[in-house]
Amino acid sequence: MIVAVDGTSASGKGTLAAKLAQHFNLEPLDTGLLYRAVALSMITVGDNLEDQEKAANHAASLDYKSMDSPRLRNSDIGVASSKIAAFKSVRLILLDFQQKFAKNPPNGRSGTILDGRDIATVVCPEADSKIFVTANIEIRAKRRWKQLIQSDEPAIYARVLEDLRERDTRDSTRQNAPLRKDGDAITIDTSHLDAEQTFEMARKYIASRDLNRQRS
Ligand code: C5P
Repeated sequence: MIVAVDGTSASGKGTLAAKLAQHFNLEPLDTGLLYRAVALSMITVGDNLEDQEKAANHAASLDYKSMDSPRLRNSDIGVASSKIAAFKSVRLILLDFQQKFAKNPPNGRSGTILDGRDIATVVCPEADSKIFVTANIEIRAKRRWKQLIQSDEPAIYARVLEDLRERDTRDSTRQNAPLRKDGDAITIDTSHLDAEQTFEMARKYIASRDLNRQRS
């Protein structure tokens, strides 16, 4: 089984994907981390984020096994990653890894779940279940701001809101694999839902898709 979860930044899609992975015994991949790792690698050596060729070189030499640096989650890396994510060559290199991951769950897993921006539309158009997660931008900004101050990263709400707006615009207006809802996906608006309610909606949807799959 392949589950695709796409959506806007700070919509709750990562939390949802992690809960679904556990419930359905799926191997998870947070694909945003790949773009973040490319951006972090460029920033670490002082490369210009506007340089597509350099960005592609960093993507090509990415160590997929070391995606655990806490720095990857910082908001400056989030903004930087959305810049290099617009490059076609970077996306092509990361696409290959994501597609292989999706189709090859490790032994003992029932499938894979990938969350990102273009999973249902580009990475896994054949996914068995497709979920698009979003929420009102002020609510998302408030959630992200709370997360940041809880993790001791200094944050100003207005700045967080501005960063999200900038990323939403860049992610959904870029030419290559823009953020958009696939025609077959269901939308979950988490503006007024907590993590458990969101999970419950997605769980029911995936279970019903799985039942139909087994019947056909
Ligand atoms: O999901 P996250 O906020 O960690 O993603 C960071 C950035 O990576 C996004 O703003 C987006 O530009 C890019 N991204 C993407 N396609 C994906 C996942 C993330 O373009 N599948």
